[in-house]
Amino acid sequence: MPKGKVAVITGASRGIGRSIALALAAEGAKIVAVDVDQAATEAMVAEVRQLGVEAIAVVGNVTVAVDTEKMIDAAVAAFGRVDILVNNAGITRDGLLLRMKEEDWDAVLNVNLKGAFLCTRAVAKVMTKQRFGRIINIASVVGQMGNVGQANYCASKAGLMGLTKSNARELAKRNITVNAVAPGFIATAMTDALPEKVRDELTAQIPLERLGTPEDIANAVVFLAAERSGYVTGQVLAVNGGMYM
Ligand code: NAI
Repeated sequence: MPKGKVAVITGASRGIGRSIALALAAEGAKIVAVDVDQAATEAMVAEVRQLGVEAIAVVGNVTVAVDTEKMIDAAVAAFGRVDILVNNAGITRDGLLLRMKEEDWDAVLNVNLKGAFLCTRAVAKVMTKQRFGRIINIASVVGQMGNVGQANYCASKAGLMGLTKSNARELAKRNITVNAVAPGFIATAMTDALPEKVRDELTAQIPLERLGTPEDIANAVVFLAAERSGYVTGQVLAVNGGMYM
């Protein structure tokens, strides 16, 4: 369990990222919460501190290389090390292929895929020196299945799985594991935006007959972040209620 470990979580201010931060804090990890939304991140960090755990908020954009360097520097300045990185920041800009704007393609690939690359590159320097690290990328079931209207998002999440496996191979000799969690449909702001009919149709495709919760995803992240999960690397852990097997 990550007691005394230092965890950097991107997109930590709400939704799945917030749950991940709270779950790692509950296990005793010190939290570095990164997000573009300053007020929400500071509120989240206040919640973490109420658990009696040290935490800092870092305002940063994962698509900007200097921001990613700064967030890792801030973590090291505050806590001396970084043991866990969770690349959770993600966006959608849905649209059918024929109508998809180039800027929507670029925005999604930038945050979801390039952001994970930049954060991983920044943290890998620290983890390599420590000879310990746990990197966890939040992918998606639709990166495995595809989805109508989400060519950009599905491509970014499938790309994230390739990045996960490549980085797992490169960093293994330094005792750094790299894994992905592929959530199914999770009840958050992202899925609240779907019309009720669409949500009902989605639920009908899930053997466990419910949307997932952010805590379902956080539990999987806690497992992969644990010291005792050190023989698991390059994997995509599906947490999707059985909707894709
Ligand atoms: P959300 O939209 O509630 O939260 C995303 C967070 O990322 C926000 O706090 C936002 O401010 C932050 N963020 C966005 N762009 C950023 C940037 N450039 N730099 C730093 N922070 C940035 O989303 P949710 O639902 O919590 O999703 C979290 C992750 O889980 C995403 O990667 C998403 O693709 C993935 N996911 C979500 C599913 C769902 O059903 N909600 C299903 C599968 C995957």
